[in-house]
Amino acid sequence: MEHKINKNLSTIQISGIRQFFNMISNYDDVVSLTIGQPDFPAPDHVKDAAKRALDNNHTVYTHNAGIFELRKSISEHVAEKYDLNYNPATEIIVTVGASQAIDIALRTIIERGDEVLLPGPVYPGYEPLAKLAGADVTYIDTTSHSFKLTADLLEQSITEHTKCVILPYPSNPTGVSLTKEELKEMAEVIHKHDIFMIADEIYSELVYEQPHTSIASFEKIRDNVIVVNGVSKSHSMTGFRIGYLLAPEWLAKHILKVHQYNVSCASSISQYAALEAIQNGKLDPESMKEQYKKRREYVTDRLDKMGLEYVIPDGAFYVFPKFPLNGKTTFDTAVELVKTAGLALVPGDAFSIHGEGFMRLSYAYSEETLKNGLDRLENYLNQIH
Ligand SMILES: Cc1ncc(COP(=O)(O)O)c(C=O)c1O
Repeated sequence: MEHKINKNLSTIQISGIRQFFNMISNYDDVVSLTIGQPDFPAPDHVKDAAKRALDNNHTVYTHNAGIFELRKSISEHVAEKYDLNYNPATEIIVTVGASQAIDIALRTIIERGDEVLLPGPVYPGYEPLAKLAGADVTYIDTTSHSFKLTADLLEQSITEHTKCVILPYPSNPTGVSLTKEELKEMAEVIHKHDIFMIADEIYSELVYEQPHTSIASFEKIRDNVIVVNGVSKSHSMTGFRIGYLLAPEWLAKHILKVHQYNVSCASSISQYAALEAIQNGKLDPESMKEQYKKRREYVTDRLDKMGLEYVIPDGAFYVFPKFPLNGKTTFDTAVELVKTAGLALVPGDAFSIHGEGFMRLSYAYSEETLKNGLDRLENYLNQIH
């Protein structure tokens, strides 16, 4: 019967990250700098709100788009921080993590044969969802542009089939973000070709120097942009599974249909926890950010001393150094690193072919773990030279 299932699945592999973990799961004494989620517990006031939601019997379906107070607090939050104007009644949908927001956005706009553009290297969650929605995926190589998708690169890549470009910034796996000026140029290209952009801003609260600009703040492309965000990374709430999307009313009303038949609504209890996080936890991301920033300094300082090249991350908690391969593939090198040095980094090819030759190092770990892991990296590099 297997030949009868959806053929789109045959072009979708289990993620390179998962394949790597399966491969290394039998090794002991491995320091892992691989994780893609904050290492802090969810804030206590958020956990208390979840408990209160249970005690108050908020255990039933909510409005399909999410409880109104939460949509209202999201609307106020994005207005205050990113100068965005979205009507909580008609233009905001609370989703099951940013992941479901991306899925329902794609399924609303994609028809078979449409092309989705992705900057590479990139978070591996997009390609499978785009393909399942019927799209062909094209990667744009950003490696010689400090991992930034530029307006020129985008312009050169758009074809008559291009329906949408997905842009995460700050980026997973590189931590690189875009300035207001760069986004403004990109907005011109989006406007000129009238394509959609899914702006994945899930790391927007974790930027270190420059303030985060949302591309949706350029009014002339308001109709083209679907903003994806959530509390997973900002408030260390990955397991609560609360994200949201912002879209103009004419589009949001169609996305809401896909969402409704897909999940009805996000978890009621988690929505109350997210409401507390957004309303009363404005400082939570700030304190985590301070820690990440210190760790970024420590990690990049150590990488400098080892002579590894990287682009300084503007945000998130990843750095993506170029790695000596000695004739091996990136994947095999990552496995060798585990076997001989007891250190796990995510091989860059998990983030598309454009990640070949790089490794993703996550610094969402304690300083002690980072020190231990980086000592092992240093020993490994000394041995192979
Ligand atoms: C760029 C990016 N987008 C989306 C997600 C998924 O977020 P969520 O856990 O809210 O579904 C991740 C998770 O790692 C991510 O790195």
